[in-house]
Amino acid sequence: MRKRVGIIGAGPAGLLLSYLLSLEGIDSLVLESRSRAEVESTIRAGVLEQGTVDLLKKIGLGERMEREGAVHQGIELRFDGSGHRINFHELANGRGITLYAQHEVLKDLIAARLKQEEQPILFNVENVQIAEITSDQPHIHFQHEHEQKELECDFVAGCDGFHGVSRAVIPEQGHHIFSRSYPFGWLGILIQAPPSSKELIYSYHERGFALISTRSPTLQRMYIQCDPLDDIANWSDELILEELQARLESKDQWQLQVGPITQKGIVAMRSFVIEPMQHGRLFLAGDAAHIVPPTGAKGMNLAIADVRHLARAFARFYQQQQTDLLETYSTTCLRRVWRAEHFSWWMTSMLHRFPDDDAFQQRLQRAQLEYTVSSRAASTSLAENYVGLPFTW
Ligand code: FAD
Ligand code: DHB
Repeated sequence: MRKRVGIIGAGPAGLLLSYLLSLEGIDSLVLESRSRAEVESTIRAGVLEQGTVDLLKKIGLGERMEREGAVHQGIELRFDGSGHRINFHELANGRGITLYAQHEVLKDLIAARLKQEEQPILFNVENVQIAEITSDQPHIHFQHEHEQKELECDFVAGCDGFHGVSRAVIPEQGHHIFSRSYPFGWLGILIQAPPSSKELIYSYHERGFALISTRSPTLQRMYIQCDPLDDIANWSDELILEELQARLESKDQWQLQVGPITQKGIVAMRSFVIEPMQHGRLFLAGDAAHIVPPTGAKGMNLAIADVRHLARAFARFYQQQQTDLLETYSTTCLRRVWRAEHFSWWMTSMLHRFPDDDAFQQRLQRAQLEYTVSSRAASTSLAENYVGLPFTW
């Protein structure tokens, strides 16, 4: 088997890359270890930056997102029982965010890709191994339907997420890893209930952080800060709702809308970057190269920004025989990646309770929150980062 680009992983990065490449007439094959059903049902992100939305619309993938997604023009920061709106529309030049689940984006991408050609994605592949990545003819060995297969290609795109195999082939020498883990995780739920708020609420509370988000008029997404090593079995539905209620307490007439909890799980949080995001003919994109804590909703958006650059770099290589954009791929992406690393760390640090925080640290968090909601300069900074900086970053 031979394709110009071998793509490992059918997440937002891998699928969008294969779609963008096909629009440029560049053939590729996506190798995914999970089944299509699993990929299309894993609950993860939900916030799309303005640039992500504009890109999906431009390439003809916006139809269902525009119909079923919800555009939000602001968020609320809540502390000491009071809500403070950050008005994106006003502060970020009319830009906003769209609430549309990651797995819905993936369904749209898979359907669009399958319309373009036969078998552009192989699901349920096993034992993916990258070989000869520093030569100009790398290979990917893998098993599919109990047969050993080999894909020859010009380039490999490692889009296989944080726990994938791509990053592991990169030697330590010549690469740097930057990493930070946080002493808390997020317990996330899906709940069948009407929205509790028109916009997302990020709440700072002495019991810990809480977040109200949404998926549809009848399905809501909510998160609470928890011990990252906690067992979800320790959290009954009643306990989760009690905790949400307490952490979102409000002096106004606000009510948490409740109903059956249909899904729950705990995720750990970390910041991670590998530099450079390339080794020989292997180019990493998305979570394979960098992770942010979820506060600020940057992960999927960064993955999309990476592959936008990568698709352009491959197009320039094949159409104009120029390697310049491939050579600058990592530096170009890392500028945006570090901006998002800082923003996500900053939002996380401002809004969570750290186990060893003293009263001084808590006063600093309050001072930061008060400044963020009352200074136009500070709220503008939050707004422009949240809706997403232009792709020139
Ligand atoms: P992934 O989505 O991880 O995809 C990688 C794919 O590669 C997977 O399908 C995997 O099965 C496959 N794979 C792995 N190993 C192999 C292998 N060896 N061989 C073949 N295939 C392999 N981001 C946002 O932008 N906004 C949000 O609101 C947001 N909220 C989040 C909330 C939570 C609770 C979590 C956990 C994450 C959130 N994120 C958010 C982050 C976002 O989900 C990720 O950044 C995004 O999925 C990264 O996309 P990716 O394509 O790089 O990797
Ligand atoms: C969602 C996830 C986030 O990480 C965030 O900051 C806001 C919303 C969500 O899943 O809806």
